[in-house]
Amino acid sequence: CGIVGYLGPRPAVPILVQGLERLEYRGYDSAGIAVLNGGGLVVEKSAGKLHVLKSRLNGNLNGARVGIGHTRWATHGRPSDVNAHPHLDCTGKFAVVHNGIIENYQELREQLVAAGHRFISETDTEVLAHLVEQFYEGDLLRAVLRMLPVLRGSYALAVASAYHPQELVGVRQDSPLIVGLAGEETYLASDIPALLPYTRDTYILENGEVAWIRPGVVNVYDALGNLLKKEVFHVAWDLQAAEKGGYAHFMLKEIHEQPRALRDTLAGRLQGDGWVRLEGVNFTPEEAAALEKVAIIACGTAHYAGMVGKYLLEKLLRLPVEDDVASEFRYRESVLNERTLGLVISQSGETADTLASLREARKAGAQILAITNVVGSSVAREADHIIYTWAGPEIAVASTKAYLTQVAALFLLALYLGERRGVAPRAPGLARGLKELPGRVEEVLKLEPRIRELAGRMAAHEHAFFIGRGLDYPVSLEGALKLKEISYLHAEAYAAGELKHGTLALIEEGTPVVALATQAELLEKMLSNIKEVKARGAWVLALTQEGNTAVAAEADAVLYLPPVPSILAPVVTVVPLQLLAYYTAVARGCDVDKPRNLAKSVTVE
Ligand code: G6P
Repeated sequence: CGIVGYLGPRPAVPILVQGLERLEYRGYDSAGIAVLNGGGLVVEKSAGKLHVLKSRLNGNLNGARVGIGHTRWATHGRPSDVNAHPHLDCTGKFAVVHNGIIENYQELREQLVAAGHRFISETDTEVLAHLVEQFYEGDLLRAVLRMLPVLRGSYALAVASAYHPQELVGVRQDSPLIVGLAGEETYLASDIPALLPYTRDTYILENGEVAWIRPGVVNVYDALGNLLKKEVFHVAWDLQAAEKGGYAHFMLKEIHEQPRALRDTLAGRLQGDGWVRLEGVNFTPEEAAALEKVAIIACGTAHYAGMVGKYLLEKLLRLPVEDDVASEFRYRESVLNERTLGLVISQSGETADTLASLREARKAGAQILAITNVVGSSVAREADHIIYTWAGPEIAVASTKAYLTQVAALFLLALYLGERRGVAPRAPGLARGLKELPGRVEEVLKLEPRIRELAGRMAAHEHAFFIGRGLDYPVSLEGALKLKEISYLHAEAYAAGELKHGTLALIEEGTPVVALATQAELLEKMLSNIKEVKARGAWVLALTQEGNTAVAAEADAVLYLPPVPSILAPVVTVVPLQLLAYYTAVARGCDVDKPRNLAKSVTVE
């Protein structure tokens, strides 16, 4: 989603619309603005592209000098006019735009409904407008400050009120918000590109900070209302760099967004008592217990996430699982019935083979559960149950944060079905480990400088191998795919124990072999496989946890992973492989974000 805001002497509408246009590259499904016009708040919003909103505005509201705007990428509630931002409270005096997720919105909504508030949208954002109204006692800033302690989740907000036509309030908590400073004019934006036509002088808000904007004056407070002294940050980036948040490519930006994306995927779903709540998934214990098989269907990277899912669903639930690429599944005549769960995974929710397979599975009687990133996508619409990954728009063709959040969603599903099927937890501490994962991914990202060096070595080769056992095997497939997709280096992933059945013949002096050794119970076997390739002259890069000295002793280079239980290792192990692919592609001068011959979403067979 994207936020913009303006307060100043010029007409606000064209400035808000231009700001929203500058955020279009991120993708969105609806847009809207709220401006202070003639003493009241006027909202215009609509599902679809910006031109729909523009034609509704049709040059009107020219008197407005203050307003907020939003482009939405749906999370809670499908894309529609009513779910588009801004949202108003019942009195129509307060308008809010919001990025992020309010985890406890259902609880807050119930309390507000009991207090007489009426809701018209399905969004989590609408509670914010009602809350500001509830806390309002004549002071807009104070009302917002009083609301913050009751909110759980990640958010960036902009608030406008008809009672204060010369004020705006912005808040940042785990979702970016920037104040643009230009004398009498002040801007708000979730992303720097929206500000660049107007100013390069900014306050970059930190978590918990609140900006109170009046004509020519911006005060920034902490969440307790203490006035802060902010430094002006001068933006030196050009537009292209700004769109990528200062990263060289969208892929690198998205790799770095993974801790945040994971937090959003887990937000509000892992309850304190270890219970998992998945809105959109509704199995009674009887229905969950009646499932006899899971058929995982997906393409590309989503399929490799599905393979991780196969290992962990079988391990945790003792339920038979098969996995297929969708283009095979749809013609394979797999044996399914109403006791089968068709588990469809798709970032875009629009991949033609995946969608056709979903329909095949449904025809055979299977119930369909979809894991997807796009609210209201075809897959989401046709599924019986949905888990949204909430990774945010993914722009680079090579998938990174979508994959990671698909795997996290599969863990949530395993816990959910385990509870409902009454299966004793076979991996104690899993829920706690899951909660800690975003922090672990932050740690593993610190390997970046070392990976960059190693990629320099990788880039000089034409062939590479990735090997792993157990849960490391699907991760090695994904690591090899990333490398192939963006660096055009030929990479093959092998189940490490299978090498000796042929592929070993291809290992020569200096051939790079990336060996994943994260699975405690398979470590010794993996060590033998590393020795096998070493004996043929391979150059081995091992990924393993600190303390696995035998692996480190055999390998030519080692990347140490943060300690996580073996079952959760796929979430951290893939991150260095993404970075390895990225820096190898950069070293080879490839077009990282748009690799040749590939498309982000393949909507033809
Ligand atoms: C394309 C993309 C891949 C992606 C696959 C499945 O091939 O290049 O990165 O994994 O489609 O896409 P989906 O949107 O269904 O996850």
